[in-house]
Amino acid sequence: MQSSPGTYQHSLQVANLAEQAAEAIGADPLLTRVGSIYHDAGKAVNPTFFVENQVTGMNPHDSLDPFSSAEIILRHVTDGAELGRKFRLPRRLIDFMLEHHGTLITRYQYARAVLASNGDESKVDIELFRYPGPRPKSRETALLMLADNCEARVRANPPKDEKALRQMIDQAFEYVQQQHQLDDTRLSIKDLHLASESFFHTLQNMYHPRIPYPEYKNPPSSINVDTLPILEAKETDEK
Ligand SMILES: [Fe+2]
Ligand SMILES: [Fe+2]
Repeated sequence: MQSSPGTYQHSLQVANLAEQAAEAIGADPLLTRVGSIYHDAGKAVNPTFFVENQVTGMNPHDSLDPFSSAEIILRHVTDGAELGRKFRLPRRLIDFMLEHHGTLITRYQYARAVLASNGDESKVDIELFRYPGPRPKSRETALLMLADNCEARVRANPPKDEKALRQMIDQAFEYVQQQHQLDDTRLSIKDLHLASESFFHTLQNMYHPRIPYPEYKNPPSSINVDTLPILEAKETDEK
């Protein structure tokens, strides 16, 4: 919370998403919540290299080549596991740190490297941009991966309406499955459907105040707070 406030907020959001989904599919909600809260703890080693902790206009990656950038990003997984071992977290919690990116690619840095090679993919070793894994082995760590992916997409590009939100969730699920990240879990098609519905409702509640209302054709004149009635607090019967 002190060194990486953005990551802390992100972890709480992801924990809420994943916990609710775990409840929906009959997985372990408490383990999912606690594991999710710790999942990005390794970012505390290099907080400002992660977008959620950056003050606008200051991005230390700007002065690094994409390979060095990727190296710093990738290591939050192993840094987290190291911190977990140092502070004697149970192995089941360290699994959430190691498995939440599975063997995915850090796509932004990879795209930058390809661009720097004039778009020639054969000149860039994609393995240098791959998280060490392993892929999720439990339903709980798989839910974290899905929740993390959905939250990152929605934060980067807040949806303009419910349809856009649903599309973003579908894209996150498709991406994770296409990359074979759920192959070592026992998640059924039904579980995936229930998890996606659960994410939709949780995200809808989180982002509801930011989804713009349709504009009025004739906007009402601005409200004068001085003329609003004063509401007095009433005592309740509750003891
Ligand atoms: Fe992460
Ligand atoms: Fe994360």
